Amino acid sequence: MSIFKNILSHNESLFLDPMALDLEYVPQIIPFRENQQKYIAECIKPLLSNRDGRNLLVYGYSGIGKTVAVKHLLNELDKETDDVYTIYINCWKKNTEFKILKDICDQLNYKFIANKSSDELFDDIKKLINKKSAVICLDEIDKIETTEIIYALLEDILRKTLIFISNDKQWLVQLDPRIKSRLSIELLEFKPYNYEETKEILNQRINLAFIPGAFDTNAIKNIVDKTFESNDIRTGIFLLKQSGDIAESKSSRKINQEHIIDAISKLSNFNFNKSTDLIDEDKIVLDLIKNNSGKSITEIYEIYKEKGEKSYRTFQRKVDKLRRTKLISTEEINDGTRGKSTKVIYNKKLNDF
Ligand SMILES: Nc1ncnc2c1ncn2[C@@H]1O[C@H](COP(=O)(O)OP(=O)(O)O)[C@@H](O)[C@H]1O
Ligand SMILES: [Mg+2]
Repeated sequence: MSIFKNILSHNESLFLDPMALDLEYVPQIIPFRENQQKYIAECIKPLLSNRDGRNLLVYGYSGIGKTVAVKHLLNELDKETDDVYTIYINCWKKNTEFKILKDICDQLNYKFIANKSSDELFDDIKKLINKKSAVICLDEIDKIETTEIIYALLEDILRKTLIFISNDKQWLVQLDPRIKSRLSIELLEFKPYNYEETKEILNQRINLAFIPGAFDTNAIKNIVDKTFESNDIRTGIFLLKQSGDIAESKSSRKINQEHIIDAISKLSNFNFNKSTDLIDEDKIVLDLIKNNSGKSITEIYEIYKEKGEKSYRTFQRKVDKLRRTKLISTEEINDGTRGKSTKVIYNKKLNDF
């Protein structure tokens, strides 16, 4: 009955731990980010001897382990000591002062929050934290709607390390100088992984998520290639999960080339493209460029202007930001009579990831 050898029975699964393919999952070991974690740990260290910590901005492209490295470090700190509170906030999900304060209360396990205003909540938090010290991580910091909360934390929390995470260190440039001067912030860049690193990170995930031997080893290369090309580990995690699901839906005992190619074809439907990291206003500009790719920056600005009252400088800043994320590119052109202009091009390939 060898024909059944390669067919999964209804109660079998290729997945050992599907949770390991959740984008929020934090593995026990985070390879290739040891140096960055050590650096962050040094900033936190003074808190362990009752002194004030150092503040830092972690920055780098999306999908290269900034969030997971910091979360892992906070977990390790929790295991190490009870003297330091660890708080992690995603400012994309919690973008107002009130939402952030409520989230902090939840994480501190502080329940007396009913009917309290932001000021009252902050007062309670302050009293609680100041009995100890705290590491407060504000992830996706460029999505925050108000910076008052940063000012308040800086002023009123005595012993803390504030860790900000952003895809773009430009966030600092426009930050209120009053806050900036008090922050005395340090910068820590995360660089994209090279090919070998990408491969090892994905192999680690395979071992955690799938039963041994589930993957056809040669076929994995396609996933690693695609992931490396996109500069974003999320691409790989998506492909691992999809190809596993596809193989299982076909009752196959192995995840092979065919399943992986099928998964890759679904990649462009899956919209965690880099533009999901942009704020709405940036997305409007990106869409505009997408629909007018190849036109000059002034032509595109004319169309943009019709949609709202925005200055050319604001528009140009947004174009610059998109260019830095490589979602678009620009090209100087010299067209004789009319002189120099800048052509703006939508990078289809990157946007499709
Ligand atoms: N060094 C690593 N080891 C294990 N998983 C990683 C590593 N780097 C990134 N990942 C995984 O890749 C995905 C994207 O990483 P994330 O930390 O969310 O990126 P970022 O915050 O830089 O956008 C997450 O699911 C994360 O667990
Ligand atoms: Mg992140």
